Amino acid sequence: MGRILVADDHDSLRRGLARALTEAGHETVEAANGNAAIACLHEGHFDVVLSDLKMGGSDGIEVLRTAKALHPSTAVIVMTAFGSVNTAVEAMKSGAFDFVQKPFEIEEMEVKIEKALEMRRMANELDYLRHTQNDIYEFDRIIGSSEALGKVLAVVRKVAKSNTTVLVRGETGTGKELIAGAIHHNSLRAARNFVRVNCAALQENLLESELFGHEKGAFTGADKQRIGRFEQADGGTLFLDEVGDMSANTQAKILRVLQEHEFERLGGTRTLKVDVRLIAATNRNLAAMVAGGQFREDLYYRLNVVSVDMPPLRERKDDIPALADAFVRRFAGELKRRMNGIRPDALKMLLRYNWPGNIRELENAIERAVLLCEGQEIGVADLHLGETALAAADGGPTVVRIPPAGIPLEEIERCALVEALKVSNWVQKDAADLLSISPRVINYKMKTLKIEPPKSRRELAAQADANE
Ligand SMILES: Nc1ncnc2c1ncn2[C@@H]1O[C@H](COP(=O)(O)OP(=O)(O)OP(=O)(O)O)[C@@H](O)[C@H]1O
Ligand SMILES: [Mg+2]
Repeated sequence: MGRILVADDHDSLRRGLARALTEAGHETVEAANGNAAIACLHEGHFDVVLSDLKMGGSDGIEVLRTAKALHPSTAVIVMTAFGSVNTAVEAMKSGAFDFVQKPFEIEEMEVKIEKALEMRRMANELDYLRHTQNDIYEFDRIIGSSEALGKVLAVVRKVAKSNTTVLVRGETGTGKELIAGAIHHNSLRAARNFVRVNCAALQENLLESELFGHEKGAFTGADKQRIGRFEQADGGTLFLDEVGDMSANTQAKILRVLQEHEFERLGGTRTLKVDVRLIAATNRNLAAMVAGGQFREDLYYRLNVVSVDMPPLRERKDDIPALADAFVRRFAGELKRRMNGIRPDALKMLLRYNWPGNIRELENAIERAVLLCEGQEIGVADLHLGETALAAADGGPTVVRIPPAGIPLEEIERCALVEALKVSNWVQKDAADLLSISPRVINYKMKTLKIEPPKSRRELAAQADANE
């Protein structure tokens, strides 16, 4: 059943049509002329629009164009007077789904509406299929047979089928997003969307529009209607990534929807109710943040129903050979290089290293090695481990030297930040990446530690950050 707009200035025809369609189980809205129809289209979303071609106010072609511009997936069926084939052709060229000539039997219209609704369902399905085709979240993409990973996967398999909210915790690069995706794709919601929201990147002023969507004209710059993340995830899963990096304001707003399950699009009047399953992920210690007052306790308890802890790679070194091998094969394929694998001494080095950046760091190291390696096997010299990372285990180079007289930790932090910024040409985002912190955090730390770029660099960095 669908939501249908019936636009015709012929009162009895319009009412009769609307009544019949309502009786058939559709939700119908009537518009007595073109302008009223266009106003309705701005108000909300319709699956099908039935529009007379010749009406008072704006005519049917304008209604059709507005419908296609605002909601491209809406099917428009135009009704034409007997004999006006030319206008019907014009309507089809402008994107009408179909047309009927007046007078028509209500059954004929019902068949066309059913066809339109069916097309929409198929289009949605196709969209979804395309989405899963290049899906990166399948279980069999999760490599590793270590006990630590096995424990995680056992929990994941258990919770996947339920609707339980899951909090995935773990250091950067441990595979939190991969696991979140695997939970979705093994759930009963797998046929619907998996929608990721990067909470660290949410701008407070655009937050509502991003999450809830907006109607055209809701604010300056809102030149198109936008469907928010919650709506996109309806029936599926909403993945709140980097959930520990939200401002207090953002936390409050998110909590409100999670409690009420409903919202309006900005500038819209219809209250939308959605059914989403939540998965959240963070590399922060949320419990400590709650204790320290940086994270709302009520939100924490709402998100942390079941938690999954991703073990760092150094605690599942058994998985390194299989992971490294898979990455070699993948990058050899992508970079069109013939590779036989990794030499034993190089593998030993991979096993010895402590991987502060976890699997992502391993992935990057292998990509670089495949790219730079001269022969067909990766050797020790092709691996540049830990160049940007802190102290390696087992007597690796020490990054920080403590002077005999001691030094405040804050001073070390300051040095690290300045060094990372210099290496990154004072582009904060890049420096943040080097230090595995979010741009928000580096910005905050620069303010509190009063670190300023050298004058000549300031404009350059501002420009680069603006281009991000
Ligand atoms: N077990 C695994 N098998 C294969 N690839 C993996 C595995 N775990 C992680 N990866 C890969 O490592 C990379 C990092 O994983 P992912 O993005 O899921 O980590 P994350 O914990 O979300 O990291 P961050 O905290 O930085 O966002 C991805 O490219 C992912 O495909
Ligand atoms: Mg992630």
